[in-house]
Amino acid sequence: MTQALASSYNYKVVRQLTIMSVVWGVVGMLVGVFIAAQLAWPELGMGIPWLSYGRLRPLHTNAVIFAFGGTALMATSFYVVQRTCGVRLFSDKLAAFVFWGWQAVIVAAAISLPLGFTQGKEYAELEWPIDILITLVWVAYAIVFFGTLYKRKVSHIYVANWFFGSFVLTIALLHIVNNIAIPVEFMKSYSAYAGVQDAMIQWWYGHNAVGFFLTTSFLGMMYYFIPKQAGRPIYSYRLSIVHFWALIFTYMWAGPHHLHYTALPDWAQSVGMVFSLILLAPSWGGMINGMMTLSGAWHKLRSDPILRFLIVALSFYGMATFEGPMMSIKTVNALSHYTDWTIGHVHAGALGWVGFITMGSLYYMIPRLFGKTEMYSKSLIEVHFWTATIGVVLYIASMWIAGVMQGLMWRAVNADGTLTYTFVESVKATYPYYIIRFSGGALYLFGMLCMAYNMVKTIAGAPAVDPKIPVQSDAAHAPVHAAA
Ligand code: HEM
Ligand code: HEM
Repeated sequence: MTQALASSYNYKVVRQLTIMSVVWGVVGMLVGVFIAAQLAWPELGMGIPWLSYGRLRPLHTNAVIFAFGGTALMATSFYVVQRTCGVRLFSDKLAAFVFWGWQAVIVAAAISLPLGFTQGKEYAELEWPIDILITLVWVAYAIVFFGTLYKRKVSHIYVANWFFGSFVLTIALLHIVNNIAIPVEFMKSYSAYAGVQDAMIQWWYGHNAVGFFLTTSFLGMMYYFIPKQAGRPIYSYRLSIVHFWALIFTYMWAGPHHLHYTALPDWAQSVGMVFSLILLAPSWGGMINGMMTLSGAWHKLRSDPILRFLIVALSFYGMATFEGPMMSIKTVNALSHYTDWTIGHVHAGALGWVGFITMGSLYYMIPRLFGKTEMYSKSLIEVHFWTATIGVVLYIASMWIAGVMQGLMWRAVNADGTLTYTFVESVKATYPYYIIRFSGGALYLFGMLCMAYNMVKTIAGAPAVDPKIPVQSDAAHAPVHAAA
């Protein structure tokens, strides 16, 4: 008995991370819906500084990317690395530190951002004391993840772990380099870089935060949970390896597309554009690999809402990674930059890809982690799927229309060279689209609340199997891995 327990997986930390991911998802999206409402009805902040748009916007981005996404990534990577290596996590104590440390970072962010403490760098707003805590937690995360890989019982390293591993390493590098700063007092620092160098480093960071925090890592989820839920081996294991190397090599160079028509040297902008165009190929290679995993099992989409989440996630991934390269073309960017088109692109990726792949993966894991046969209610998953899908479509379609309209209105000129529209006219024209986006966001949040309720009821339900699941050799996964 003791031996069976000692050799079982560490599911405790995965359970904790899973629950908190859903909680932070609800919180982050609630703030998203609130700021979406503020853009339509600006007086909602009531003049209270910590309810102002400028402070809540970074709270939203940090909450959804790092709290919701980050916690889900830690949960799934710890689950997948144990299952595919056939061993318990490298260290329970360090894993517990990763959980509590990361939650402390999130709470520190949730307090300091509304209070107005910020470095002023997008997605890297947190001030230096919190940055140091992030570094410590991340190093612990890397030790647990790579330590588990090191002591694995299976000689092969399953491809999902390659994707998770590159995410862990790259985020460490990006975080440290972009946050080098000179602290002047508690919670106030100045960047070590200046001018255009500062901008370039920030967007090297920013774009790779998209590439590695919001893409590569979630592809790790895709490569494990789609084959598992579909009950099919990955379509091409060889393609998954090509996909991996091509993607991580290309992403690193695309950052300058965020700085078109700035003081950044023109050649650097062109390098960013060219690599962004090349990025279409590995991105779609990965999408096709995931989709084709369903060959022979397409009928399952009809009855399995979890699989639907996972596959629809891939279609949004394909959409966002087609749109991104187009927006990186300088002449297209001249129209799209500064407009809501960018916001539409962001949320096609964030809601459609990141959100859906996470939800599908968590629905797969929750019953298994808590020793239940399935989720409490399949119909609620259906409701979640449809409300979220309609929500995303309303969000992104309204922002596309608004964005292109804004871009065209801003550049319209009369025969005598004067501007056809004042800026405020474009704001007025955008108003209906902001209301549509708010409704889409509210629907998406409603779906997330269904998920939270479903999770609580699943956990509270009667156990179906012994929750102390013993280590199984990864032989069970062999057919999933080995297929070429
Ligand atoms: C209920 C769901 C959501 C709503 C209503 C929502 C709403 C918003 C709004 C109103 C903005 C500010 C747009 C602007 O400044 O013009 C924003 C920005 C952003 N959101 Fe969301 N959001 C939601 C979910 C998410 C999720 C799940 C993610 C990521 C996983 C995400 C990532 C972002 C990012 C990265 C930005 C900054 C975009 C940029 O600066 O270009 N959002 N969101
Ligand atoms: C081949 C893949 C992709 C390429 C080449 C790409 C390219 C771009 C371009 C050109 C912009 C606009 C830059 C600007 O005008 O300032 C942008 C913005 C953005 N993209 Fe993508 N994109 C890709 C995929 C994705 C995916 C899958 C996601 C999300 C999961 C995403 C998230 C974002 C975010 C958050 C921004 C806003 C950054 C900001 O200004 O705050 N992108 N992307």
